[in-house]
Amino acid sequence: MTRDAADPAVPIASIVVVDDDTAILELVSFLLTRRGYRVATATDARTAITLIARQRPELVLMDYMLPDLDGLSALCTIREQFPATYVIMFSGQGSEEIVVELMKAGAAEYLLKPFNNRTLLERVDGVLRLREIELANRALQTERERLLLEIETWNRELQGRVREKSEALQRAQTEIAQTEKLAALGYLSAGMAHEIRNPLNSIALFTQLLRQGIEDEEQQDYLDKTLKEVDRIDGIIRRLVDAAGRSRTIQPDVQVDQVIQSALAVFAPQIEARRITISLQCAATPPPVKADPAELEQIFTNLFLNALEEMPQGGRLAIEISSASGRIMVRVSDTGGGIREELLETVFEPFFTTKSRGTGIGLPVVRRIARLYHGDVTIEKTSTQGTTFRVTFPAFLA
Ligand SMILES: Nc1ncnc2c1ncn2[C@@H]1O[C@H](COP(=O)(O)OP(=O)(O)OP(=O)(O)O)[C@@H](O)[C@H]1O
Ligand SMILES: [Mg+2]
Repeated sequence: MTRDAADPAVPIASIVVVDDDTAILELVSFLLTRRGYRVATATDARTAITLIARQRPELVLMDYMLPDLDGLSALCTIREQFPATYVIMFSGQGSEEIVVELMKAGAAEYLLKPFNNRTLLERVDGVLRLREIELANRALQTERERLLLEIETWNRELQGRVREKSEALQRAQTEIAQTEKLAALGYLSAGMAHEIRNPLNSIALFTQLLRQGIEDEEQQDYLDKTLKEVDRIDGIIRRLVDAAGRSRTIQPDVQVDQVIQSALAVFAPQIEARRITISLQCAATPPPVKADPAELEQIFTNLFLNALEEMPQGGRLAIEISSASGRIMVRVSDTGGGIREELLETVFEPFFTTKSRGTGIGLPVVRRIARLYHGDVTIEKTSTQGTTFRVTFPAFLA
């Protein structure tokens, strides 16, 4: 095969020939130049390495016996410093060990002197072809690794997104389950309330009649306690029915501060009896909201009730109303015993209670109503010094 050096489509390989025998150097140079290669020569290893560093040839043909450096060291240096330069070694005396050693050190070929011209050219052509394939392969390998890395990154990102979505779905499902629990509760309680309230009324009535006819103080006390328990049952039923939700009456201009005042008024007797300090702060008149005032009041009634239940020996109930960027925020703080860290989310689940007489529907109802108005309720802070609940919702301007 004769190489066509004039064809611009065929890149001309550049070759450095290194031999201290100038006769060989000239012969090889002549053969390769005639073949179309660009040839440079050196008679010792150091000059050769400088030349290689400058020209970065595709191929080096180098004698194993050089005056300044042994062929193996020179080969190692070239392969290490210029990995894209391939090396064909030749030598006058060839032993199998030397060949093995040279191939291990990265020689592409080994030629025993004297070599015939055709063999030399065939080997040179062959090594250059091999070099091209190997380098292309190496580039492909690098590209493959880069792509694999990219795919891995995408994969990880995708997994992260799937995980996020699954968690969101899980949260949504939990919420639906809780809403369903409340809905079932509403359905049951509406029916039950009616069934229970009638006999309850009779019990209350007959107990009152009994009490009027009894002189014995101890027995009167028992009947008073019975009446109190009847009241408690009635209270629970009322709250259950409230939790189930009634038909809503939306008003266009509800004042949150007034709603809070009226929720507070319900607790006036307890507040006074336990000497609880009330602090109601309202930075400016909050914007009116479009809401069912009874529903909003329910939020605060439940929060105040919890706060007061936490402070049987007295304390401070602080309410802070603020509004900014179209949202109204109300903080309700008490100086009660606080909520344990691991219960921070659980307390919003229906029927979760730590109270012997609790039903566990106060906070779920607060959350349900707040979310109905596109708002929410969270625990801003809690410690053994007290708890702050934060209710936020958008001010639907009238
Ligand atoms: N201000 C608070 N301080 C400390 N713990 C609280 C406070 N508010 C609520 N909790 C805790 O959250 C639980 C759930 O409250 P939630 O109002 O839902 O139910 P409950 O008060 O137990 O019963 P219910 O309100 O139905 O009578 C309470 O049992 C209590 O452990
Ligand atoms: Mg409660």
